[in-house]
Amino acid sequence: MVFNSHNIDLGNGKRTISDSEVLLVETERWKSIERTVNILFTKDEIKNKRVVDLGCLEGGYSLAFAQLGFQVIGIDARQDNLDKCEWVKTQHNVPNLTYILDDVKNLANHGMFDLIFCAGLLYHLDEPAKFIEIMAKQCTTCTIIHTHFALNPDSFYDNRRNLNVIQRSVKKLFNLPNYHYPAKNDFWLSEVVENEGYQGRWFYEFDENATKQSIEKNFAASYSNYKSFWFVKSELIKCARKNNFKVIYEQYDFVDKNTGEDYIEKFDRGMFVLIK
Ligand SMILES: C[S@@+](CC[C@H](N)C(=O)[O-])C[C@H]1O[C@@H](n2cnc3c(N)ncnc32)[C@H](O)[C@@H]1O
Repeated sequence: MVFNSHNIDLGNGKRTISDSEVLLVETERWKSIERTVNILFTKDEIKNKRVVDLGCLEGGYSLAFAQLGFQVIGIDARQDNLDKCEWVKTQHNVPNLTYILDDVKNLANHGMFDLIFCAGLLYHLDEPAKFIEIMAKQCTTCTIIHTHFALNPDSFYDNRRNLNVIQRSVKKLFNLPNYHYPAKNDFWLSEVVENEGYQGRWFYEFDENATKQSIEKNFAASYSNYKSFWFVKSELIKCARKNNFKVIYEQYDFVDKNTGEDYIEKFDRGMFVLIK
């Protein structure tokens, strides 16, 4: 079994990825999540609280929540991912951890959760506003969303679209930057458009006619939609507010030298904490 994303301690001196890579539970990202958890719940309360880890991939976060004592459900649409999750589970004593093969769009079928952990997932959905509404309905206390967002305006994407063929060629030939942040990652986003009443950019994940087999293999991508909608950041906040989250803040303390100190600017990605 080959792990690509979550370096998990297997408890026998072995790790899922390698000894040289930082363990998921030692990343500042996990520690920042734990800091939020500690603000919300006492140690005694945790054992009666339900957490769902949406798009759980290799199960590193689900396991970490379970090891804190939560009742945890990890949901992922890909069987190969869940096989890894289940295997990691056998290496630990975590009867409070369950995995379910499902599309996260069916979240409402899985009950209420005290904490919804939605990391690396919202930007893989074509109707993120509908999904925030579903999460809001299924959440008693807190939803944590770690996601890419779009900016408007964004010279990185907008200027490129405004160049004619000759300008594009010259730019390519001389490797000229045409954007405000030279190290920014290029996701090939669309222009700003409206979807579900919110502004954002489309992100094309795979061919519209991709086979089921190739979608299954594309282990970290979207599952039931070939393009995904990235909210303009302010629209994400607007949507969360509309769904009655009373406290909304962006958490910055997950950024460190492992993510890269410029992680947020480079990837247009942040951690949003939404509290009922
Ligand atoms: C980028 S990975 C993020 C993994 C993990 N949450 C993390 O932050 O490291 C996206 C995960 O979501 C899953 N996924 C994508 N769309 C899904 C859907 N509609 N339903 C269930 N799982 C989905 C993928 O299979 C993959 O495991």
